Amino acid sequence: MIKKVKAGVVGWPISHSLSPRLHSFWLQRHSLDGEYLAYEVKPEDLGDFLKKMPEENITGLNLTVPHKEIVFPFLDDVDEKAEKIGAVNMVTLRDGRLLGSNSDGYGFLTNLKQCAPKWSAEQGPVAIFGAGGAARAAIVSLLDDGVPELTIFNRTKERAEELAKIFQDPRIKVGHWQGRSQGLSELSLLVNTTILGMKGQSPLDCDLSHFPQAATVYDIVYNPLETPLLKQARGRGNVCVDGLGMLLHQAVPAFKAWFSQSVEVDESLRKHMLEAL
Ligand code: ATR
Repeated sequence: MIKKVKAGVVGWPISHSLSPRLHSFWLQRHSLDGEYLAYEVKPEDLGDFLKKMPEENITGLNLTVPHKEIVFPFLDDVDEKAEKIGAVNMVTLRDGRLLGSNSDGYGFLTNLKQCAPKWSAEQGPVAIFGAGGAARAAIVSLLDDGVPELTIFNRTKERAEELAKIFQDPRIKVGHWQGRSQGLSELSLLVNTTILGMKGQSPLDCDLSHFPQAATVYDIVYNPLETPLLKQARGRGNVCVDGLGMLLHQAVPAFKAWFSQSVEVDESLRKHMLEAL
């Protein structure tokens, strides 16, 4: 008898996670006999929980806060992207071994290319606001895609400098947070990875008057979908990319790996997810 495929997402807390809704949509669309559940696991219990994957018949797990960075000691193997990003968002059980990988950078870049098809890495320098985990995934994917220059602006400059030190890539520059509006004049792409603009947070204060009109603004915030930054950018004719697509696209490789089914990110999925926001 073929066993039902079991997968899920692990976090602490986990109630906010949209991943079960997302994967369940695809399971239903493709009439697959699988399940994707949310597991609330304390950081100190993560190792034991992962060890139980074989006996619980769990094929794969997504990780969310605070597990992505602390999971490394419990894994048998980690792929190159996860190593570079310093975080794991997918754990797959294969032949009794736990493999860690990271699809956040893939989700970030695929969403950018789907929503801003005219943007390409060789068009010019890019800027990133923020220096947390999301920034790191965006930076890795943009450098791997070939951007010629990437400037990190972060409120705490030392954090941006630490990131630059980790990558040791001459294309990375660090800017002053206070000078962020002045540093936008040559860009092809601006990415916000900070929490500013998110529901309940202050808006991101940034004057786009020096920012080229042909350039793209990508805000990885998805609640609300149109942040004040994107509203400002849209009003002056910039191509705008919101953060929902990154969340949706990062799930595609996991679904394929665990349920053996290729899936699409389309308008009906976006609509289904927006109803839950
Ligand atoms: P994640 O891992 O999800 O990216 P994080 O590590 O908490 O989250 O990072 C949040 C980002 O938002 C950081 O770049 C943070 O700046 P600091 O490194 O200075 O903390 C940024 N951020 C949060 N609140 C901010 C604020 N009020 N003004 C400017 N940046 C802020």
